[in-house]
Amino acid sequence: MEKIIALNHKMNMDFDELQNYIDDLKKLNLNLIVFPTAIHAPYFVRNNLKTGLQNIYFQDDGAYTGETSPKQAKKLGIEYVLVGHSERRELFAETNEEINKKIQSALANGLKVILCIGEKSGEDYQKVLKNQINEGLKNIQDQVIIAYEPVWAIGTGQTPNNQEIETIISYIKSLFDYDVKVLYGGSVNSTTIETINAVKVVSGYLIGGSSTNISELKKIKEVVS
Ligand code: PGA
Repeated sequence: MEKIIALNHKMNMDFDELQNYIDDLKKLNLNLIVFPTAIHAPYFVRNNLKTGLQNIYFQDDGAYTGETSPKQAKKLGIEYVLVGHSERRELFAETNEEINKKIQSALANGLKVILCIGEKSGEDYQKVLKNQINEGLKNIQDQVIIAYEPVWAIGTGQTPNNQEIETIISYIKSLFDYDVKVLYGGSVNSTTIETINAVKVVSGYLIGGSSTNISELKKIKEVVS
């Protein structure tokens, strides 16, 4: 099956670069889902790229200054939402309970969800991941995609070895009663992909730092396709 390549821009990319980047991305012809900053998202939608938001609120409308509505996102042509990224959990103190509300609301509005999970260095991965899945997906029957991102691997250039990725992703899959797609994220770039891509259980990648760099993406494409 063709690997999913999810691009998490975080808060990067200048508006001046946007159209060239979009043109190059379309030429790449990969199975992409792009998660630009929310204000750039409409440009990706208009260019017929599968587009997601990096975060969403759990109310459709109302007095919530500064938040983004899942209902409005859906109307705009947004297809996906990333929920529970470790930067949101850490920097914005997002709890599993809030993550659960966001997922319920996104799904109710017809958005597809990628739930990010991951343990910190030294933590018991089984305990952390099981808890993030059980609480994040409480009372949710719809299928979601999981992005497994060990926190210590994000933006550090370090990755788990293939055996570790395989073991942990197999563990995650064992917690679901459907064939859940699991992406790997954390320092995926043109160098690390050469090793990681040998792991069969991975359904695709969530790429941060390299996601705005077209020459990196070209090299990644050569490996995955
Ligand atoms: P990274 O980020 O590729 O820069 O490690 C991945 C992510 O945070 O989703």
